Amino acid sequence: MGFVVAVVGATGAVGREMLATLEKRRFPVSEIVALASPRSAGQKLTFNGKETTIKATTAEAFKGVQIALFSAGASVAREMGPAAAAAGAVVIDNSSAWRQDAQCPLVIPEVNAAAIKDRPRGIIANPNCSTIQMLVALKPLHDAATLRHIIVSTYQATSGKGHAAVEDLLQQARALANGQPVKPTIFPGQMAQNLLCDWKPSAMEGGEGYSEEETKMVFETQKIMGDLTIGVSPTCVRVPVVNAHSESIHARFARPITVEEAKSLLRNAPGVVLDERPYAPGAHPQPIQASGKDEVFVGRIRRDFTDPNALNLWVVGDNLLKGAALNAVQIAERVIAE
Ligand code: A2P
Repeated sequence: MGFVVAVVGATGAVGREMLATLEKRRFPVSEIVALASPRSAGQKLTFNGKETTIKATTAEAFKGVQIALFSAGASVAREMGPAAAAAGAVVIDNSSAWRQDAQCPLVIPEVNAAAIKDRPRGIIANPNCSTIQMLVALKPLHDAATLRHIIVSTYQATSGKGHAAVEDLLQQARALANGQPVKPTIFPGQMAQNLLCDWKPSAMEGGEGYSEEETKMVFETQKIMGDLTIGVSPTCVRVPVVNAHSESIHARFARPITVEEAKSLLRNAPGVVLDERPYAPGAHPQPIQASGKDEVFVGRIRRDFTDPNALNLWVVGDNLLKGAALNAVQIAERVIAE
């Protein structure tokens, strides 16, 4: 017994993790349908020990598919998501295409799993990687003390921009080490030994001056939490890290909350590993340690010096796993449990 599962974008950074996560979590797959662009059609990959041929993503390719995990960008999702749903698949899309659609639930299983059931289009949206790790960390605190405002600065890894972006970073680092000029191929400038805000400008009404990535964190937080009054002030920055995003979060609540209370709420929170080490140089969650792990790592919980209702936190998570592939597979697990 198993399900026919398609992975769209099977050759990409997230798609490969989706396949690996399905294997690792022993998702009941009777047949895997690996889809990508026509450029990759005919290439082979191995899933659960069996060789599969990658096919081009066409409407016909979804015949018989029951679960379709998409990570091939927004335009592919906009075009092919409805085709997959029309063929009878439950679509779980990692792109931004459907996140704002009122008829598509936007889901982090630890936060709003109940929303999965209400999916009139047959499409469930996977949130942005930065939103996911932030809300996994903040939800238990929100349930206890009600979030009012979040100020978040991100330190985002290059893998979030895809496989080719990681290659660009590594190639730039090699050029610098050899005293050669840096020739960016994916990033809009030098990424090695540098920081960049490399996202497109936001098209959100009133979002002038913000990047697309930043305003995603605003509306996604409000939609997932089901509370349009939660304020979010984001600054998103790409850092020369291969994998795993970090976030500095200042969260203000409706009532006073102590560091001890926050720790007790997060100690057994789903999907969270609480790092309780006292501050010392290097003793905090780090991308190289969070990379490859399923959990979101929360550390450096500090009081605010002037506001008893606010806390400061440091949150690190694997953007390809919990920030993308794992979250999508966890949604699929809930769907098949229905
Ligand atoms: P391909 O490898 O054939 O280009 P990443 O995020 O790592 O850049 O990966 C993007 C993924 O989306 C890849 O698997 C890529 O396939 C896939 N993709 C890109 N364009 C299309 C398309 N037009 N149709 C289907 N898949 C696409």
